[in-house]
Amino acid sequence: MHPRSLLLGLLCLFNLSASLAAAPSPEPGTEVYAARRAKLMAMLPKGAMAVLNAGPEIDSNSIYRPDSSFWYLTGMPEAQTVALLLPDVPVGQRYTLFTQAKNWEKEQWTGYRIGQTQAKTRYGADIALVNDEFSKQMLEHMRDASSLWLYDGGDAKFREQVLANWNKRASNSITSLPVYNLAPTIAEMRLIKDPTEIALLRHAVDLSLKAHYAALPLAQAGAGEWGMRAAMIGTCLAGASARMAYSPIVGSGVNSVVLHYDAANQVLQPGAMIVNDTACEYGMYAADVTRSYPVGGKFSAEQKAIYDIVLAAQNAGYAKAVPGARMHEIFDATVDVIVDGLLKLGILKGNKAEIIAERRYRSFYPHGSSHWIGLDVHDAGSYEVARVPVDAAPHLRNYAPAQAQLRAGMAFTIEPGIYIPADAKDVDPKWWNIGIRIEDDYLVNAKNVECLSCSLPRAIPELERLMRKH
Ligand code: GLY
Ligand code: MN
Ligand code: MN
Repeated sequence: MHPRSLLLGLLCLFNLSASLAAAPSPEPGTEVYAARRAKLMAMLPKGAMAVLNAGPEIDSNSIYRPDSSFWYLTGMPEAQTVALLLPDVPVGQRYTLFTQAKNWEKEQWTGYRIGQTQAKTRYGADIALVNDEFSKQMLEHMRDASSLWLYDGGDAKFREQVLANWNKRASNSITSLPVYNLAPTIAEMRLIKDPTEIALLRHAVDLSLKAHYAALPLAQAGAGEWGMRAAMIGTCLAGASARMAYSPIVGSGVNSVVLHYDAANQVLQPGAMIVNDTACEYGMYAADVTRSYPVGGKFSAEQKAIYDIVLAAQNAGYAKAVPGARMHEIFDATVDVIVDGLLKLGILKGNKAEIIAERRYRSFYPHGSSHWIGLDVHDAGSYEVARVPVDAAPHLRNYAPAQAQLRAGMAFTIEPGIYIPADAKDVDPKWWNIGIRIEDDYLVNAKNVECLSCSLPRAIPELERLMRKH
């Protein structure tokens, strides 16, 4: 055996044993979810009744992914589950879970059901009932309720049923009995990650970096986009990811300028630019990481010129990202650097202030710089005013764009990009088919903003060295 194949073999063995040793995706303890429910209940007005729905099983051919907001408050991994929260009843009766009935004949085909016993022992319900019981229970409890807070899990049929129940009471009442959508309140809670979430997010990021390292040596002429994609999916799943954080984007050449290209079915052409936007989900938390580099690992002068602008834009965005900064300041900083850079290269022409005012940079930088990450890759939470009290009147809300201020526990991306398609008007063909995005994940701490993914090289010399090494 050639010594190099032996070495590769040993490395594979090592990787395999490392992945076998990976812990299964953890289940945070019931106290974590109980604390979140307690926090939510404390925010609700007196006499509130909250109903939350996990939503239906959408597609029996794929693995069920629990609804993120329902999961956030319950940790319940089963569809067709309903939670009832009654903040004003005595402790020990406030949390009822309605779950599918145990039924071995059905479970033998589709898997074990949690059932009512485990709903209490493993998921912390005070009371556990079969989901058929929900309507009857709701009708009973709502007699004492003065407002309904509904999270419908995107299930229109469920929403209609609950509202029909509630309206029976409301139509007989002399006082007004409002219904509120609970989703924005949960979304604002999800904006600030607790220590359990931060640990899972860090793990999702670390695993995603491993996936990127696995892809780098495969970016060789004649290989396929699919090989890189497969290696990254393999790395995530071997690390106990249940799934990818989103459909991987491995776009080379003409596909590097398509923001959400996910076919990964093209052969890698020598020197073509690749945008690799891929990340794992871990314990339900999504990372979101992009690196861009050319097939074969050697940047051309044009690729380097564009890359350096995008990298400088990301650094400028990060420089603005301090606790208390407003979201739009990050975006504005990336725009400033990108417009300067493209003017200098003659790709944009004209007056800088006008280009920014007319948003003409959007021909090459058509997306935002940042979004929240968490249970969803584009996570819940407003970008406007970070904390809207649940009872805030609409006129108290400020809809100025991206005014949310960075506060400890928030997690977000900074991901500027420049994409120059073939036939771009008035652009020298030497720039065509260069798409570059650099995306990292950040966590706001008390005193600083930490980059979680920046240990994966971004500077060209480091990237080139890394690709050469393979
Ligand atoms: N991966 C999707 C995004 O970057 O927002
Ligand atoms: Mn992103
Ligand atoms: Mn991304």
